[in-house]
Amino acid sequence: MRGTIKYDYDFMSSRRVGSSGYKNEELAKLGKELKTIKLKLKNSKNEPELSFRKLLGNKKLIKQVTRIARKLRANFDNLVVVGIGGSDLGARAVYQALAGNYANLQAKKGRDMKVYFLGDTTDPQPLADLLKILKLKKTAFYIVSKSGNTIEPLSVFLFLRKKLIRKVGKRKHKKHFVITTNQEKGTLLAIAQKEQYLVIPHYEGGGRFSVLSANGLLPAACAGFDINQLLVGAKALNRLTKNSYKKNSPYVFACLQYLAYKKRKQNVSVFMPYTYYLQDFTKWLRQLWGESISKEKDLQNKKVNIGITPVAALGPTDQHSQIQLFMEGPIDKIITFITVAKRKNSFKVPKYNHNEIKYLTGHKFANILMIERHATAVALMKNKRPNGTIYLPELNEYYLGQLFYFFEMATVYLGYLLNINPYNQPGVEQSKKYMYGLLGKPGHDKDKKEILNIK
Ligand code: PA5
Repeated sequence: MRGTIKYDYDFMSSRRVGSSGYKNEELAKLGKELKTIKLKLKNSKNEPELSFRKLLGNKKLIKQVTRIARKLRANFDNLVVVGIGGSDLGARAVYQALAGNYANLQAKKGRDMKVYFLGDTTDPQPLADLLKILKLKKTAFYIVSKSGNTIEPLSVFLFLRKKLIRKVGKRKHKKHFVITTNQEKGTLLAIAQKEQYLVIPHYEGGGRFSVLSANGLLPAACAGFDINQLLVGAKALNRLTKNSYKKNSPYVFACLQYLAYKKRKQNVSVFMPYTYYLQDFTKWLRQLWGESISKEKDLQNKKVNIGITPVAALGPTDQHSQIQLFMEGPIDKIITFITVAKRKNSFKVPKYNHNEIKYLTGHKFANILMIERHATAVALMKNKRPNGTIYLPELNEYYLGQLFYFFEMATVYLGYLLNINPYNQPGVEQSKKYMYGLLGKPGHDKDKKEILNIK
């Protein structure tokens, strides 16, 4: 039987880090709130925002995505994902975690596609660079935007569409596109319907909770990964959320963040995997955390300006960079390491006949990595810096699915504990309005005037 990922929070406790850590009685008190939160979750289970929880048992989705991926793999070598924010970061995180950083440089194996990401910027350089290396005839594009109105992916999409039409013709270009957008409104939906592109409807919920929907699954399936296992893994983690608080690790995680923020003004949360290919995962997490747990108003509309700043870090790279800050800077941070127990290869440091370096001989790289994390965690603890560690037995589809779901649930729990809405992001709207105004979108004259009048 396969296990679940584990959260070790010993070094978060006051026993270990004194007054900067949580007290058992504080955690036990919050543990009692879980019953009420579970009830709230149950009562709002039909809210679209919580529909990420329904993705876990969605066999129809797996079938649909697998069928489309099979077709794409039969016809194309490359898939370019065009999206931004929640319509981009999850898919990137899955692809990097499972394929690594060099898959696109390797010779094509079997019928797996190489996956590229574009659309999260209007910087023309990456677009130009990628177009230089891709054979358009062998490239499919997955355009993702829930609203269907987002400037960056829409601009890139229109540019690519024109290029493709020039290359393969108006009729043939259609089969290069798959679109995911909401089913009711938006520019992308209107274009997709007019041009008859293939559409996989966006699942009901929001972008940053969409990684286990078609948004994250289609690119992974095109690259040849087992998308079913991503969902099976998430489902296994979901079973933990049915337990009492001590065994519900995402809830414990949320409680400790809550206590750190509310009781000790620790308002920075550092995510530091000791796994090179989880770097994009921390970017996904940074968005999930940043947009969900930072709000001006609480649920009663009272101004609260709540926020826990997420920081993406990487071990051991940041032992030579940000650790100085984490170790000696203000005690306003809690650090979460993520580590993998079983690594795929067993490379060792070879022998070299020199006294100063002999001690390294024969050490497995994976072992050195483990020691580096442990040494860093203990050093931080010794300096009264609270830190915890999430352990993955292996980095594969199953445990990756668990890891995504762990943080999705921890985010929702923390939102409930903080009495804020974790699903919206009203703070991103004002700059969008100004952009629309400056770019001349109808209905935004007032915004244009306002921004141009700033002296
Ligand atoms: O989490 C979210 O909902 C946002 O980050 C969106 O994903 C992001 O703004 C992109 O929006 P859209 O998918 O509508 O293009």
